[in-house]
Amino acid sequence: MSVNLKELPAFSMKHDTRTLPALVDRYGRVFNYARIALNERCNLRCTYCMPEEGIDFQPPEKLLNKDEILRLVRVLATLGVKKIRFTGGEPTLRKDLSELVSASLNTPGVEEVFVTTNGLLLHHFVDDLKEAGLTGLNISLDSLQADRFKKITRRTGLEQTLDNIRLALEKGFASVKINVVLMRGFNDDEIEQFCALTRDAKLTVRFIEFMPFDAKQLWCDGDYLIRAKDIVATLHGLYDGLVADKGSETEHHHYRITGHLGSVAVIPAFTRSLCQNCNRIRVTADGQLRNCLYSGTDYDLRDLMRNNASDEQLVCQIREAVGAKAIDGIEARERSVSKVAVSRISMTQIGG
Ligand code: GTP
Ligand code: 5AD
Ligand code: SF4
Repeated sequence: MSVNLKELPAFSMKHDTRTLPALVDRYGRVFNYARIALNERCNLRCTYCMPEEGIDFQPPEKLLNKDEILRLVRVLATLGVKKIRFTGGEPTLRKDLSELVSASLNTPGVEEVFVTTNGLLLHHFVDDLKEAGLTGLNISLDSLQADRFKKITRRTGLEQTLDNIRLALEKGFASVKINVVLMRGFNDDEIEQFCALTRDAKLTVRFIEFMPFDAKQLWCDGDYLIRAKDIVATLHGLYDGLVADKGSETEHHHYRITGHLGSVAVIPAFTRSLCQNCNRIRVTADGQLRNCLYSGTDYDLRDLMRNNASDEQLVCQIREAVGAKAIDGIEARERSVSKVAVSRISMTQIGG
């Protein structure tokens, strides 16, 4: 019997396109979110990330090219990865960003694609990203005061970043979030001003704990870390009408403020109380899979691909990485410091 394909009900490829068993670790966590770094370079020099002179950036040929990235997206999608986030470095410095977004969204199984950016160049790319179908943007902004913005990023650009956040909201992306790394003595007196941004705009402001990925500049010599529990206490002190609700997996504490359109969240990135819900794997710009932000172990995917590995071989490597994942970021860090060298000293080399 011949079947007229046009008459069949529209079968949504978005629902179960996974063709292989899902990525599950020995603690039962399912990995359906991949963070893929597109480069190591950045147009800012945030003190909590890099020194003024930058770090030892890898030459372009060591970084994954577009075809390699899209091959990984396709293979990961067959393993049940539904959410992709492009990070950096600064991903808008990469000319093929919009193309990567649209091609990823056209990959069977991929449902959402996001970008984490400092937002400074967004006005050049926002229309292309919208047309590509980008689901949402997380924009880093650590101060609402120009002199502090300059002190933290070692560059100017507060007004442009704020304009670009407004632009992202106007363009109607499904999700727009602001990432604020809170540091004692830098910006910890700005919590209320940041929360005020959520009053009339449907955006989420997330306060993030400072982590020891600053190329050894500040972490060791100061008391800059403000713990999630203290940030939460400050929020409760500021607002009576703080209603806890569910945020994303990193938004371990997520609240609505009565009367505000948007929401606020606290990410316990250093405390690592979010690990039992971990759902992500990360790929560095040079094509190394990391099973945890705090892990020191690279699982090479780039050279496998460059040596003509089959998809099955890539899948084996990905499963091996997931199988070796520590119970949490504390154990992962303990394992990595006992190694001879921890090679990635800056967040820009890991991808956030
Ligand atoms: P959503 O999907 O919107 O929740 O974004 P996200 O929080 O996963 O990504 P984003 O790139 O905006 O990261 C926000 C902060 O969370 C950054 O400081 C990241 O380094 C940190 N972060 C992201 N993933 C992890 C993680 O797996 N563990 C820890 N400890 N921190 C993380
Ligand atoms: N500690 C906490 N967050 C950091 N980020 C970069 N470096 C650090 C750090 N040392 C954040 C950026 C961006 C996200 C990807 O990671 O501000 O929002
Ligand atoms: Fe996952 Fe490691 Fe981050 Fe914890 S610290 S949430 S285990 S990646």
